[in-house]
Amino acid sequence: MSEYIGLHKNQLNTPVLVIDKTKLLNNIHSMQEFAEAKGIGVRPHAKTHKCSKIAQLQLEAGSIGICVTKVSEAYELAKNKIKGILITSPIVSLNKMQILVKVLKLAPDTMLIIDNLVNAQTINELLARHDLKLNVLLDIDGGIGRTGVVFTEVIEIAKQLNKFSNLCLKGIQCYAGHIQHIADIRLRTKASKEILQKAGAIKQDLVDAGIECSIQTGSGTGTFSIDANIPTVSEIQPGSYTVMDQEYSNIEFADNKFLPAMTMLTTVISTNQSTHVTVDAGTKAMYKVDTKPTIINQQNLIYDWDGFGDEHGKVMVINNGKLPKLGDVLELVVGHCDPTINLFDKFYITENDIVIDCWEIDLRGKCQ
Ligand SMILES: Cc1ncc(COP(=O)(O)O)c(C=O)c1O
Repeated sequence: MSEYIGLHKNQLNTPVLVIDKTKLLNNIHSMQEFAEAKGIGVRPHAKTHKCSKIAQLQLEAGSIGICVTKVSEAYELAKNKIKGILITSPIVSLNKMQILVKVLKLAPDTMLIIDNLVNAQTINELLARHDLKLNVLLDIDGGIGRTGVVFTEVIEIAKQLNKFSNLCLKGIQCYAGHIQHIADIRLRTKASKEILQKAGAIKQDLVDAGIECSIQTGSGTGTFSIDANIPTVSEIQPGSYTVMDQEYSNIEFADNKFLPAMTMLTTVISTNQSTHVTVDAGTKAMYKVDTKPTIINQQNLIYDWDGFGDEHGKVMVINNGKLPKLGDVLELVVGHCDPTINLFDKFYITENDIVIDCWEIDLRGKCQ
């Protein structure tokens, strides 16, 4: 690793992911300060960065914990002594529940969302056998139709959930992923308010029914600043804000401006065509989405996967620009950060474009 320290980032072997440490810390602290000013907690989602080291930085900045989607991610974080883990997706198969048990032994304050009573019973029985307790949140479908119970059934299911001896109901999760990227801030605000106020009313009903419901979580980079104004919301779980990507750079934000802390470097490896050049980053290096990556270190160039296959990308000119030369290193903001990061082993960390560190993306590939 030390062989890279002190190199200019353009000297790294490409394709490679680099993180500008100043921008990363700016993003982490800016989110933290915002939440503290609103009197709510941040439990950032590690599904984006998949990196224990960044999770640790978020906790040091004041986060109340770290969210993950999968139990294998939770186990990795627990081994790295990360506290306040919330698993935001159901755990259903028995072998995964066994891993949950291991997580709980390492990190007893871990929480899990639940959206099914049969599933709750199975987990409860397993935990009882191990003499373990688990804090849980009832997951409410915020409108994606992905996980979560429908609004009309929340109260009844919460009452049942509350009866399990080894599950301690702490509140609700209501995540509305389908509205995070609505470009128009007014439309996004209207949509998010409607959903989270509805969830907030249910939270109040649960409290009135004598059920503990101190937590209301959900929210992503697109709606956190809207959701923080809903009085019942106690915490937010944004992920992408840490490193940002082109999809999020394209939407309108009210105030907080997060910086594109992570970029990809790719090298021009063939220049025999008059219309384009070929670079060494294709679909194996950059997850393909409708939003194309943006080239930020040379003007008037656009990237496209354009059928070049797994290992190659195509770079073309616009506005009478000039094609890059053989060996040029291009710097890109990727279309969608999470699945792109999942393709790499390491982040190279830079300050003023010089490599100062290298962090393992230790949760990558942990999709189970
Ligand atoms: C349940 C849940 N919470 C939070 C997030 C974080 O969202 P974002 O990366 O848009 O900030 C996601 C992202 O998919 C998610 O699935």
